[in-house]
Amino acid sequence: MANSIFGENYGLKQKADQDFQDMKFQLHRHLIAEIERENVDLFILSRDRLSEYVHNKIREYISEKRLPVSGYELQTLSGQIVDELAGYGPLESLINDDHVDDILVNGPRQIFIERNGKLEGTNYRFIDDDHVLRVIRRILAPLGRRIDESSPMVDARLPDGSRVNAIIPPLALDGPCISIRKFRKEPLLAADLLKLGSFDDAMLAFLTAAVQQRCNIIITGGTGSGKTTLLNVLSRFIPQDERVVTIEDAAELQLKHEHVVRLETRPHNIDGVGEITARDLVRNTLRMRPDRIVLGEVRGNEVMDVLQAMNTGHDGCMTTLHANNCTDAMLRLEMLAGLANFQGSEKTLRQMIAAAIELVVHISRLPNGQRKVVSITEIAGVRDGQFVMSELYAYDVAGKQFVRANVQSVNYKLQAITAGGQ
Ligand SMILES: Nc1ncnc2c1ncn2[C@@H]1O[C@H](COP(=O)(O)OP(=O)(O)OP(=O)(O)O)[C@@H](O)[C@H]1O
Ligand SMILES: [Mg+2]
Repeated sequence: MANSIFGENYGLKQKADQDFQDMKFQLHRHLIAEIERENVDLFILSRDRLSEYVHNKIREYISEKRLPVSGYELQTLSGQIVDELAGYGPLESLINDDHVDDILVNGPRQIFIERNGKLEGTNYRFIDDDHVLRVIRRILAPLGRRIDESSPMVDARLPDGSRVNAIIPPLALDGPCISIRKFRKEPLLAADLLKLGSFDDAMLAFLTAAVQQRCNIIITGGTGSGKTTLLNVLSRFIPQDERVVTIEDAAELQLKHEHVVRLETRPHNIDGVGEITARDLVRNTLRMRPDRIVLGEVRGNEVMDVLQAMNTGHDGCMTTLHANNCTDAMLRLEMLAGLANFQGSEKTLRQMIAAAIELVVHISRLPNGQRKVVSITEIAGVRDGQFVMSELYAYDVAGKQFVRANVQSVNYKLQAITAGGQ
C-alpha cells in the first residue's frame, strides 16, 4: 500500500514536499467537490473504476490549472488519493503496519500511534472534520451501523478484527476521534511475555498450575496495560479436553482449544432494541454445560452472575477488571455489585467475593512502555469484615526484579493448588 502524502515519507521539512502536500490537499478538495457535485457513490465503485475516475479528474484539473506535474507524479498522486477515498484514508498504511499497536485520532490534525509500547505522534493528517467522518462511516457502513449527532459514539471492528471506537461532536469538542486497538494476527504468547519480561519463570509456573487446577482468577490493570493479552495467555493453559465458553464485547481472545464456543455481546440497533448484554450471555452460558467460562471483562451487572457462577461449581473462571491495584479491584467489584442491585449486607458481599475469587493478577504498564505483572495476590477470605489478601509475587520497581513477596504463602498455595484446589 502506498504511503499517504500526509505521512512520514513526505515530511514537511523540504519545500518540494510542502508544494506536493499543498497540491494534494488542493486536488483532494477538488475531487471531493466533484464527487459531491456528480453524486458519485464511492461505496459501490470498484477500486479500478475509482482509480480511473480519479486519474481522469486529476488530469483534467492539472491541465486546466496548468500545474507542473510529471507523469510519474500524476500516477503517485492519483494512487494516494484513491487510497484516501477508498480505504481508511491516512490511517490505511498505519492499519497495515504490523508494528503499530494502537492508532489514536484526536480530530483531523492529530494522529498518535503506539509502537513498541510507546505512544508517539505522527505527521499523518486528515483534511478536515468531514474527512475523519467519512473514514468513520466507511468503517461502519459494512456493519450496518451509523454515527451522527443523535448517536455520536460507536464501537465497531475492522474486517481484520481490530477494535474501533469513534466519538464525534458535539460530544468530542475538538473534532471526531477514533481509537483503534489493532488485532495481532500472531497473539503474544507466554514465551513472548517471558521474553518481554512481563513475568519470570517462577510466576509463569505458578500461574500455569493455578489455571490447570481451576483457580478462579481475575486479571486487573489500567487501560491498555495488557489484561486481555494476559487473559489469552492464561486461557491457553486450560487443558485441551475442557469445554471453554468465552464471552466478550468484541472478540479479541484467540484460544487454540478444539472445544471452544465464542460468544459476543450485541449493542442495540438503530431503533434502540435488540441489545444482548454480557449478563444475558453469562446466564445463557450456564445452560451450555461449560467446563470453563472466560469473560473478556467484568464491568457491569454481569458481576453478580459471574460471582455466583464462581461460587456454585463453575470454578476455573477467568476474567479481567479495570482497577489500579488489588485492593482497588475488590472495591470495584463491590461497587459493581452495588450498581447491579445486590441486596445483602456488605459483609455478605465480601464473603461472596472472597469465596469466588482466589487470585488477583495485577498487570501494569511502566513508564518505559513495558508491561509487568506487578502483583499476584491470593484472596484468602474475610476477617473482621475485611478482605484477607496475601501478596504472593510482586515486582520491585526500585530493584527492577520480581520477588516472591511471601515465600511461605507461595509454598502453601502451590501445595494447595497441586493437591487439587484449596
Ligand atoms: N506483556 C506485554 N508486553 C508488551 N506489550 C503488550 C503486553 N501485553 C499487551 N501488550 C500490547 O499492549 C496493547 C494493549 O494490550 P491489551 O489489549 O491486552 O490491553 P488491555 O489492558 O486489555 O486494554 P483495554 O483496557 O483497552 O482493554 C496491545 O497492543 C498489546 O499488543
Ligand atoms: Mg482489554
